[in-house]
Amino acid sequence: MPLPIVEFRDVAKRFGHLVVLEGVTLSIQRGESIVIIGASGSGKSVMLKHIVGLLKPESGQVWFDGTRIDTLPERQLMLIRQRCGFLFQMGALFDSLTVGENIAFPLVEHTRKNPDEIRQVVAHRLAMVGLPGVEYKMPAELSGGQKKRVALARAIALDPEVILYDEPTTGLDPVRADVINELIIKLQRELHTTSIVVTHDMASAFKIADRIVMLHAGKLIIDGSPQQIKDSTNPIVHHFVVGEADEKELSVLKG
Ligand SMILES: Nc1ncnc2c1ncn2[C@@H]1O[C@H](COP(=O)(O)OP(=O)(O)OP(=O)(O)O)[C@@H](O)[C@H]1O
Ligand SMILES: [Mg+2]
Repeated sequence: MPLPIVEFRDVAKRFGHLVVLEGVTLSIQRGESIVIIGASGSGKSVMLKHIVGLLKPESGQVWFDGTRIDTLPERQLMLIRQRCGFLFQMGALFDSLTVGENIAFPLVEHTRKNPDEIRQVVAHRLAMVGLPGVEYKMPAELSGGQKKRVALARAIALDPEVILYDEPTTGLDPVRADVINELIIKLQRELHTTSIVVTHDMASAFKIADRIVMLHAGKLIIDGSPQQIKDSTNPIVHHFVVGEADEKELSVLKG
């Protein structure tokens, strides 16, 4: 096996008394497209944040391309973060900056490119996400789907080796959601990145993933191909994939 690009070794994380991760072990190979599924609150965003050192484990280790990162000082973590594009769950564009300035932000911060070179990269990234020429718009002028694509253009500004997507299709209609799915697949192909995608959206998961893992009660309870997930007889996995509430979940509706 080649060196994994991202590795969790027996990671545990809690906030006060709330145990979120409990012995999570996972190796992600370079070039993989892996999807993390799990119920709301199961710790999917918490997992992603460990990959870029925004959160640190209680115990266990997190590795990035052969470097243990959970013990790295902030300055060295910055170098790891520059190798990752992060599409945050809440979009998080700077509302007071134009689209172009939003995408230029990481380039200004972390490269020595001159303004002309930066303009070229911004234009290229916007073309890649299918929004050429919107540099001078303000985020408020864009639809939800367009904002996600601009946030994605910003996430890929520094040519990341790994792109982390936190719920990239949430809040979009099925057609717009599928545009994002296709974009994830296209970026994977064109930039030869590793994609780590957190989603609730099973249609999206099955379309994007080479491999799917499911987080439940602090642990990864399944790790397999999309077909293996579809065929799983584990009741928790099956229940989630089919998306039907059970008696207990429906009981909250009965006053
Ligand atoms: N910084 C924090 N401080 C305290 N609790 C936190 C923090 N971050 C997350 N949590 C808690 O950890 C649990 C897992 O949160 P997380 O955001 O990872 O869920 P999720 O699986 O991404 O859910 P969703 O699908 O709703 O986005 C939640 O109960 C959340 O309230
Ligand atoms: Mg989340």
